[in-house]
Amino acid sequence: MSVHSEIKKITTETLRKMKFDKEKITMLTAYDFTTAKMVDAGGVESILIGDSAANVMAGFETTLPITLDQMIYHTQCVVRGVQRALVVADLPFGSYQSNPDKALESAVRMMKEGGAHAVKIEGGIEIEESIRKIINAGIPVMGHLGLTPQSIYQFGTYKVRAKEEAEAEKLLSDAKLLEELGCFALVLEKIPANLAKKVTENITIPTIGIGAGADCDGQVLVYHDMVGMNHGFSPKFLRRYLDLYTEITGAVSQFVKDVKTADFPNQNESY
Ligand code: KIV
Repeated sequence: MSVHSEIKKITTETLRKMKFDKEKITMLTAYDFTTAKMVDAGGVESILIGDSAANVMAGFETTLPITLDQMIYHTQCVVRGVQRALVVADLPFGSYQSNPDKALESAVRMMKEGGAHAVKIEGGIEIEESIRKIINAGIPVMGHLGLTPQSIYQFGTYKVRAKEEAEAEKLLSDAKLLEELGCFALVLEKIPANLAKKVTENITIPTIGIGAGADCDGQVLVYHDMVGMNHGFSPKFLRRYLDLYTEITGAVSQFVKDVKTADFPNQNESY
């Protein structure tokens, strides 16, 4: 028997059951093979190839520039490193908004070429037909409401969403719609904790929060933020578990010093 077959893989059904059993769900991003391996070994239930790759990997200010081909490449790299977690890939800006046929085509490419287990897309009623079409093709969809970064130029700011009653009501109604359409889970980004609690209590699919308080069924963070690689990004919701920026720059400057002083390589490090 191979080692792989002994690992119980996480499925969309596992996440549904976890909500039912009141067991919290964990998700982190990864964009490459090596990180995905570590994140999977750490025990998260789900790994997200977020379009935050546009920021973190490519240095863009927004998530808008990343292409479907680039997201597929990141997904292929991640999938090769994962044995257990459910791998969810973002469909990037422009790959699903224009019409349901295009949305399905993009989702199929992400599954077929990328090897993702599910796709995530941003929005509610505006993309109802696209979600329906993707799910009807047998592709699991994770929704994403609240601060949806692909709409940043419409919002004009990365501040907390749905503080006003009208937007909060629309968000709740969108969440119910996503459940009705058959989404298997829902990311809630940067909304008031009491609204996230209300949504979580009013739908049967799991909610995964980022900046949405403690009552969501699970939590997601961007890996590079939670390991402290990015000193320039410090939102209130972020908990840093490491300070890798300091560790890595320290290691690099030590290497520079060791080479310049002829300390590295020594005899044991030479052939
Ligand atoms: O792109 C991303 O990393 C995301 C998470 C922040 C949920 O969508």
